[in-house]
Amino acid sequence: MNKVLNKIKEKNIIVGVVGMGYVGLPLALEYAIQGVKTIGFELDSNKVDLLNKGINYNQDIDNKLIEKSTKNKLLSATTDFSRLQECDVLFICVPTPFTVNKDPDISYIIKAAEDIQTYLKKGQIIILKSTTFPGTTQKYVLPILEKSGLQAGKDFYLAFSPERIDPGNKFWNTRNTPIVVGGINEESTKLAVEVTKIAIEKVVPVSSPSIAEMEKLLENIFRSVNIALVNELAQLCDRIGVNIWEVVEAASTKPFGFMPFWPGPGIGGHCILIDPYYLSWMAREYDFETKFITLAAEINEDMPFYVRSMIVKEIAKQPVTLENARVLLLGMAFKKDVDDLRHSPALKVMELLLLEGIKNVSYHDPYIPQIKVNGQKFDSVKNLTSKLIKNYDIVVVTTDHSVFDYEMIAKNAKSIIDTRNAFKNVKNKKNVVLLGDGK
Ligand SMILES: NC(=O)c1ccc[n+]([C@@H]2O[C@H](COP(=O)([O-])OP(=O)(O)OC[C@H]3O[C@@H](n4cnc5c(N)ncnc54)[C@H](O)[C@@H]3O)[C@@H](O)[C@H]2O)c1
Repeated sequence: MNKVLNKIKEKNIIVGVVGMGYVGLPLALEYAIQGVKTIGFELDSNKVDLLNKGINYNQDIDNKLIEKSTKNKLLSATTDFSRLQECDVLFICVPTPFTVNKDPDISYIIKAAEDIQTYLKKGQIIILKSTTFPGTTQKYVLPILEKSGLQAGKDFYLAFSPERIDPGNKFWNTRNTPIVVGGINEESTKLAVEVTKIAIEKVVPVSSPSIAEMEKLLENIFRSVNIALVNELAQLCDRIGVNIWEVVEAASTKPFGFMPFWPGPGIGGHCILIDPYYLSWMAREYDFETKFITLAAEINEDMPFYVRSMIVKEIAKQPVTLENARVLLLGMAFKKDVDDLRHSPALKVMELLLLEGIKNVSYHDPYIPQIKVNGQKFDSVKNLTSKLIKNYDIVVVTTDHSVFDYEMIAKNAKSIIDTRNAFKNVKNKKNVVLLGDGK
């Protein structure tokens, strides 16, 4: 172990990152920036080709950093998994989606572990970063790796260390966000902590992989439950005519014991929507129903339906039939200022409007050029001008991108549904119906 530790301290290691997506690429880049040779292992040859040409495909990363790190050969990518044996450390950053029945799908982790097992060598440190249910590292990854004949914790080292990246966040990034690490034994934790310290400013060791796996789920369930709470209160506020946004703002002035969460058209992305289901699935094995998780999911996943009702109600006030109403959705990404469409509630709103029989539904999102809804392709309408806005019976802000000119939109739209309080600072907004405002 001391030999491996010394290599880490001298940064005389090669880091491998399996899965070069939203999580893997920034992590790999951070090691390259610190002067460590880093290889990205990817199934998607398109991503590999782009990276090896020095071309960035992640909106949050400065193109110049990718250009520089690939030019000086500290960062490269490959589809050749036999090169896993070149690495001293391997991070697993593959997707953990759910199935159509919302059961965990850890098949990507299994495949990555099997690939690593094929080339596993003595002294390697394996760190799983994909979000998953407690026990995955020890009950699934460990036995696969030990098929190599090497013993975990002695011949090779194994840890779980959850990712906390927040795409679009301008302050908290890969380097300055504290990271938790839990190894399968003391040696594994120590080595994984030392390796992580090269790229991350603050590393927090915990006593086991299961603690690290579970704390990540707690982080995301905490968000899901609190968002559900304000979403429920937003619906109540609509009935009683109180503005939920002002209520949350007022409550936020309490300097302790309160943290603001905001309502919206639902939750999306790869984490908050999916991860809670990992735990509720696992809990059932232990005859345990996670009631908070289920209730939060129910409320959050009902929000696109609630927004559909708001839209239909607004259309009914206009001299146009539902069928012929022209609806423009602004923002398709699952959150503001990012290009990530995964499980976006805006997609669900669009799907519901089409199912409602509204024929003219369009969208505009500067970050998402094309989407597919109900098997049908839609292109983002170009140039968000006053002329374009005037053309629609109703404009719905589903994602509040900063680039939108809300003054111009309010001035020219016949009617607006605002699901994000995007028009907060616009003075003249008589035509705006705000979710959770009751007006
Ligand atoms: N995106 C986030 O904001 C975020 C934040 C925290 C945690 N996470 C978690 O991190 C994990 C990765 O998420 P992501 O957003 O980076 O996913 P992603 O889809 O952006 O990237 C995953 C990449 O892995 C590749 N891949 C799949 N199987 C592979 C294999 N066997 N070998 C090599 N490459 C493989 C895919 O082609 C893809 O490029 C998930 O568990 C997710 O829940 C994501």
